[in-house]
Amino acid sequence: MVVQREHSYDCFQEICSLVASFTPKISSIFTPIIIIITAFLSVSYATTQYRKRSGKNNLETPPNGVSLFDETPKDRSPGVWNPSSFRWPKPAPFADWSIETTKPLPYRPFKYGPKYFVTMGIRNTNYDEWIEMDNEFPRFYREKAVRISERGQKCCRTLPEAFPAAVELLEELVEYLPSRYPSLYERVDKGIKNLWSGEVIDNTSQPLPEDPMQSVGRLTQDDMAILIERPDGDYYLLAGAILLAGFWRLEDKLGMPLWEIHTSAGVPHYREKLEKSMYKFFRRLKAEDFVTRNNYTLQIDDNLPWSVSVGDEDSNDLGWHHAEQDPPIGKHHLRSERQSLRRLPKSGAIVFGIHTYFSPITELAKEDYVPGRLASAIRSWDETISSYKGTYTYEKVLLKYLDEKHREQIQRGLKLEEEDQRRRYPW
Ligand SMILES: *[C@@H]1O[C@H](CO)[C@@H](O)[C@H](O)[C@H]1NC(C)=O
Ligand SMILES: *[C@@H]1O[C@H](CO)[C@@H](O)[C@H](O)[C@H]1NC(C)=O
Repeated sequence: MVVQREHSYDCFQEICSLVASFTPKISSIFTPIIIIITAFLSVSYATTQYRKRSGKNNLETPPNGVSLFDETPKDRSPGVWNPSSFRWPKPAPFADWSIETTKPLPYRPFKYGPKYFVTMGIRNTNYDEWIEMDNEFPRFYREKAVRISERGQKCCRTLPEAFPAAVELLEELVEYLPSRYPSLYERVDKGIKNLWSGEVIDNTSQPLPEDPMQSVGRLTQDDMAILIERPDGDYYLLAGAILLAGFWRLEDKLGMPLWEIHTSAGVPHYREKLEKSMYKFFRRLKAEDFVTRNNYTLQIDDNLPWSVSVGDEDSNDLGWHHAEQDPPIGKHHLRSERQSLRRLPKSGAIVFGIHTYFSPITELAKEDYVPGRLASAIRSWDETISSYKGTYTYEKVLLKYLDEKHREQIQRGLKLEEEDQRRRYPW
C-alpha cells in the first residue's frame, strides 16, 4: 500500500453492516477468516451492559447495484492511504487486573432457536478494550511459545509488503499494553517487558530480532491477522500470528485476496450476497473505528491450538470424518471467539484480533440458562451448518446432557422468563 503525506482524511461517518446470509460447507471449515470477515458485515447488535462509544450503532444496507470498488473516499484512490493523525487513546488501567484472579470473560454468544439466523452482531467497542487479557494468559503464552518454536513461520509470518504494518501493530501494542495491564507489562528502553515471564519484546533493534508478527503473537492471548488494500482495491492477507486458531492454518491463506479466501473455501452466496458490502465496509473503516463481535463453535477435544479431532494439522485430509463418533461429554468444549477489527492509522492496514475463550461443556452447563439455550441453538442449525460444524459426531451425547442439565435447573426453580433481565447478548 502506498502511503501518502498526511492530510485530513474526510471519510464516511458510519460503520456499515449488513445481514450476511451464507451457508458454510464442510470445505470451508478451515477458513474462519471468512467467518471473521463475514461477521463484520452483519447486523449490529443492541447495546450490551458493557461500556461503548455512543451513537454509531446504526445499520446501513448498501443499495443494490453499488459497484464493487466505487466506495473510495474522495481524497484517496484504492490502495493509497493518507496517514491519519488519529492516535489510539491511552487506555485506563484495567481495574484490579491480576494474572491470578482475573477470570476470562464469560462470552456465551449462542441464541435460542427455532430459527437460526446466520447474522452476527458487530458492536462499537471502547478503545480501552482493544485487547482482553485474563488469568489464562500463562496457558496461552506457553501454548504459543511451543507453537512458535515448533512451527515458526507456518504460524507467524510477515510478507515484505506488510512489514511496516506489522511493525506499526507491534508499536501500538508496546504503547497500549503497559497502560492497560501495568502489572503485566512495563516499558523498557528496548521495547516492553513482560513482568510475569521476564521476557523483553524488542521493537527498537535494527534489524528486529524476530518477525514482528512473532513478537505480536507473544504479547497477548489473541491471534492477529493483517489485511492490506492494494491499488486493485482488493484486501490481501499479508501477515499473521495465527497460533491458536483451532481449525485453520495461516499457511493456507497467506497472500490471498478477500474474494479468493471466500471462493476457494466455497462460501455459498458469497458473490451475490456478501462481496459488495464486505468491500464497502473495509473501504470505509477508519482509524477511529473499533468494532468487535462474537462467534462460537464446538470442539470435541481439549487441544486449544489445533482441534486434533478433525485430523493432523499437517495433513491434507482434514474433516469431521476423522472425529470420534459420540465422544464422552468430558471431551466436549465450547470454542467461543471474540473478534476485533481496527485500522492502523499510519499504514492503513486492517488488523483482526481473535481471542479464543475455550471451556469444557461440563463447566458451562452449571451456569443458569446456558444448557437450555445452547441446546436450543444447536437444534436450530440446518443441515448445512450442522455438517459444517460436525454436529452429527457429537450431538447425541451433547443434547442429552444439556437437556438433563436444563431439566435440573428448572426443577430447582430457575425462572426462564427472567432470563432477559439477567443477561444480554453476548453473555
Ligand atoms: C517502539 O514502540 C514505541 C511505542 O509505540 C515507539 O514509540 C517507538 O518509536 C518504537 N521504536 C521503534 C524503533 O520503532
Ligand atoms: C462463526 O459462526 C458461523 C455461523 O454459526 C460458523 O459457521 C463458523 O464456524 C463460526 N466461526 C468460528 C470461527 O467459530
